[in-house]
Amino acid sequence: MSIKNICCIGAGYVGGPTMTMIAAQCPDITVNVVDINESRIAAWNDPNTDNIPIYEPGLSELVKKTRGVNLFFSTEVDRAIQDADMIFISVNTPTKTYGVGKGMAADLKYIELCARQIAAVATTDKIIVEKSTLPVRTAEALKRILDNTGNGVNFDILSNPEFLAEGTAVSDLLNPDRVLIGGEETDRGRLAQQALVDVYSNWVPKDQILTTNVWSSELSKLTANAFLAQRVSSINALSELCEVTEADVNEVARAIGADSRIGSKFLKASVGFGGSCFQKDILNLVYISKSYGLHEVADYWEQVIIMNDHQKRRFAKKIVETLFNTVSGKKIVILGWAFKKDTNDTRESAAIYVADYLLSEQAELVIYDPKVTEDQVFSDLEYLGSRSMEENRRLVRVSKSPYDAMENAHAIALLTEWDEFNNYNWKDIYNSMLKPAFVFDGRQVLDEESMRAIGFDFYKLGKG
Ligand code: UDX
Ligand code: UDX
Repeated sequence: MSIKNICCIGAGYVGGPTMTMIAAQCPDITVNVVDINESRIAAWNDPNTDNIPIYEPGLSELVKKTRGVNLFFSTEVDRAIQDADMIFISVNTPTKTYGVGKGMAADLKYIELCARQIAAVATTDKIIVEKSTLPVRTAEALKRILDNTGNGVNFDILSNPEFLAEGTAVSDLLNPDRVLIGGEETDRGRLAQQALVDVYSNWVPKDQILTTNVWSSELSKLTANAFLAQRVSSINALSELCEVTEADVNEVARAIGADSRIGSKFLKASVGFGGSCFQKDILNLVYISKSYGLHEVADYWEQVIIMNDHQKRRFAKKIVETLFNTVSGKKIVILGWAFKKDTNDTRESAAIYVADYLLSEQAELVIYDPKVTEDQVFSDLEYLGSRSMEENRRLVRVSKSPYDAMENAHAIALLTEWDEFNNYNWKDIYNSMLKPAFVFDGRQVLDEESMRAIGFDFYKLGKG
């Protein structure tokens, strides 16, 4: 079967870039990206593609090339479903904030709503592709909802987890290490799987397209993220040990990374990992393990999260202790709010938790991030529910100018590794700050020696 029309429900960080790449690489396929959020769709359709809702290097140029040609963004979900041969579900699956599994299980409310909507309006056979990260065996639930429509339409379900990382989404999509497609082990299932293999074959070498059964595919996504996050927690655990033993975590990382069995990537000690996936996916793995009675397995993976929470708290605590055990009324500048560089995404960003800790100690914060909006910063703080909105507004200011922000500050906490932080005139900044002038580099981006030479009291994570 050859796919001519694709619909994607969810125009987010995953759906938006992925569909743009498919449209760019498959000129014969019409791609409709739909979302219930009208303002998000309006932003995707903004005549100036610099205003699309997601910042990713290279994305705006790709949207400019394909939008209106074979890529369309709209809120007309029903029509897009009807027209499609293949439907990607790319809606968000946040951690449940209520009921059974609260704080752990994935909330599948939106996935179920999508399935019901597809079932209600589809009049021809469809291949349904799970793009959102889902707990193992979600496909089964999806199939039951879809198959109970009784209108004779056939649905085939595939799992095609996304491995792109934010900030490098375009190059990850263009040159993926692998594409994973899970399908049912039936004749129909294999045909559906082949149809999606054919879509990716337009630009991905065939030997990099892996096919598995649906459950392996779903579980592989959770496992990949758990392994990656585990590396960060492992090196972060070592960073604390390095600080008390006079070792240097970067030297340790280099030494172990040179072992080809370990590999050099994902060994950068940091203030803690963030992002929409790592924590959610591990919590999911923990929840699933527990629900099968596998308590040791659950505890093993939960420790990766416990370590990450510890690292964020430890960093914030270090600031308070160094500033003579009180930050009350002191101006502290937070450089970087996004969970990593080159994205405007702030979900689970370490900066939010460090800020929250410092605010509980009554610090006055000035936040600067090159891509995150003021509204987003306040909405992140308000979402925590640690204090009233008025209190947040009283203690926090968001600045668009890094130099203004740092004037008369007691301390700077660098929490995202934006490249521009390295290009600042740190001598001028030092002169404009209160003394002693403290810098806490949670991302190891600034050069320790030159910062010390300028006169800064400099804290480098992971170095004794
Ligand atoms: C999402 C999931 O969070 C993640 O688990 C998965 O791996 C990929 O998809 P992301 O694209 O980053 O990640 O989410 P988000 O940016 O929140 O986008 C989801 C979009 O779906 C939102 O724009 C939302 O408005 C839309 N949506 C949600 C619908 O269109 N319909 C719904 O019923 C629910
Ligand atoms: C991750 C996975 O990499 C991707 O394959 C999956 O599809 C979604 O989840 P993402 O969350 O976008 O992608 O970013 P990633 O680059 O994995 O970084 C996650 C967090 O770990 C960031 O906060 C980053 O700063 C942190 N990190 C990463 C470190 O602290 N040290 C490292 O060495 C690597």
